[in-house]
Amino acid sequence: MSERKLVLFIATSLDGYIATKEDSLDWLYSVEGEGDNGYSEFYETVDTVLMGKRTYDWIMDHAEQFPYQNKMCYVFTRSEMKNAEDVQFVRNDIVSFINKLKLQEGKDIWMAGGGELLSAFMQEQLVDELILTVAPVLLGSGIPLFKEGNQTKLTLKRKRSFNQFVELHYEVRV
Ligand SMILES: NC(=O)c1ccc[n+]([C@@H]2O[C@H](COP(=O)([O-])OP(=O)(O)OC[C@H]3O[C@@H](n4cnc5c(N)ncnc54)[C@H](OP(=O)(O)O)[C@@H]3O)[C@@H](O)[C@H]2O)c1
Repeated sequence: MSERKLVLFIATSLDGYIATKEDSLDWLYSVEGEGDNGYSEFYETVDTVLMGKRTYDWIMDHAEQFPYQNKMCYVFTRSEMKNAEDVQFVRNDIVSFINKLKLQEGKDIWMAGGGELLSAFMQEQLVDELILTVAPVLLGSGIPLFKEGNQTKLTLKRKRSFNQFVELHYEVRV
């Protein structure tokens, strides 16, 4: 049986930002999409969600209830945290943690962001596929999706659009 994949699924502005400097996603929610823009289809393919502590804090500040209650959810932090009801905090070395996780049986693993955690994952070549939902907006500044790092070659697996959004699905070339 092949290892399960770690997949980045994230929305980005055309100029490569995932939030404004003030952590606003208003620019994203104001785009006219189609249905849920492929979200539930993707959500079905994963049983585990990974995110950085700042993304977790953003969700806790904005969501009425934690949105990924039916998935195994890990939040990466370098601080000492008590586990919360819906998530486990991870301080371990990301490489050994992810390699163990990939060997467990199950569906794929969703890397939900943000940019800082993604940067560490890309440096360590832990991401297998990237699905970017591109919003038709130039933010000019903000929290970058990608930071400086290694060159990564990709293969385009699929492209489709949801009204104003374009979804680009890439596989990392090994
Ligand atoms: N557009 C979208 O679809 C989308 C998706 C996700 C997030 N976002 C937005 O992105 C913003 C957050 O992104 P961000 O890049 O600022 O932060 P982030 O990656 O979500 O979180 C950064 C934090 O994660 C922890 N961390 C990072 N690398 C680590 C590592 N190698 N090992 C252990 N812990 C590590 C650290 O937590 P500690 O400081 O606790 O040590 C760090 O401060 C928010 O505004 C959120 O709304 C947008």
